[in-house]
Amino acid sequence: MDRALLEGDPHSVLEGMIISAYAIEATKGFIYVRAEYPIAVLHIRKAIDEAHERGLLGDNILGSGYSLDIEVREGAGAFVCGEETAMIASLEGERGMARPKPPYPAVRGYHGEPTIINNVETFANVPLIIEEGGAAFAESGTEGSKGTKIFALAGQVNNTGLVEVPMGATIREIVFGVGGGMPRNREFKAVQMGGPSGGCVPAAHLDLPIDYDSLKEVGAIMGSGGMIVMDNTTCIVDIARYFISFCAEESCGLCAPCRLGTVQLEETLNRITEGKGTLEDLDKLESLGEVVQQTSLCGLGQTAPNPVMSTLRHFRDEYLAHVVDKTCPAGVCTALLPVEATVGKEK
Ligand SMILES: Cc1cc2nc3c(=O)[nH]c(=O)nc-3n(C[C@H](O)[C@H](O)[C@H](O)COP(=O)(O)O)c2cc1C
Ligand code: SF4
Repeated sequence: MDRALLEGDPHSVLEGMIISAYAIEATKGFIYVRAEYPIAVLHIRKAIDEAHERGLLGDNILGSGYSLDIEVREGAGAFVCGEETAMIASLEGERGMARPKPPYPAVRGYHGEPTIINNVETFANVPLIIEEGGAAFAESGTEGSKGTKIFALAGQVNNTGLVEVPMGATIREIVFGVGGGMPRNREFKAVQMGGPSGGCVPAAHLDLPIDYDSLKEVGAIMGSGGMIVMDNTTCIVDIARYFISFCAEESCGLCAPCRLGTVQLEETLNRITEGKGTLEDLDKLESLGEVVQQTSLCGLGQTAPNPVMSTLRHFRDEYLAHVVDKTCPAGVCTALLPVEATVGKEK
């Protein structure tokens, strides 16, 4: 969704950055964007050139005496580089690894200077708020989460793509309204909210108004605004395994709880999907997940167990089917299917 904003409306992001930089008297700004998004890189670079040509960037902006330079930096796509201290390390030319906080970047950031880090969508909202006022922006949204939010709707839903809705819209409104419901009228099972380290929200919460607080209550996060819709052909244990393996792969390796814990969670889930899981494994997943959440150094490790913890909370029956009955109700885990059902299925 941030890529689409950079591609489709780069000047809104740039304008938001210029206003914000002016407010804190910053003289240098960076846009950190994955090199795998070449159109976003091209468009934001063009917008920067255009802003320079019109005296909106560079020395003595609009004769105000204020100067600001904004530079585009292309990242190699490491998940951890979204974490602010790892991003700063990457911007400084170091390997993208997190460091303990405090000191927070606002006190000591890029090359030791006070630095603020904001999301693309946040900056794109700034010109709107300055132009129309905070009250106008706060007209939409919920008590604790104002304005609108862009979600990237994906998975087993008829209309995939970007969706901008007021904060507080329900999952049902997004999936069945904007998203047009499930293909072939299949049954809605869950939605993974907040990217790979988000949480799985079950059908029982279809009418949950989405905002930062309500998602936290059901074990999910807003995160990147990703919404992956799943129907009843999805195995929830396999999904948790998939997401934790991504985080284990992306762990920067600096701290033991995340480096070792994510791998142990992955190995346990592998065993369960192979039909070798036990009831004790479920307790282990829960206690280990909690330790990783509470003791990891940065946001990657602190949120990595979310898919495991949320699926254990909302889909315990499906885990029990795997470890006690040795079946996979969704028919995905080949080791747990009758031999004839595995023909033509990849492991
Ligand atoms: C592992 C990890 C990955 C992240 N990835 C992103 C990302 O891709 N884009 C982003 O804007 N924020 C990402 N964040 C959040 C940022 O660190 C930061 O909190 C956020 O951009 C703050 O912006 P906001 O206050 O304007 O929302 C990530 C955080 C973590 C821990
Ligand atoms: S939590 Fe993970 S990603 Fe973050 S510092 Fe520790 S090892 Fe690195």
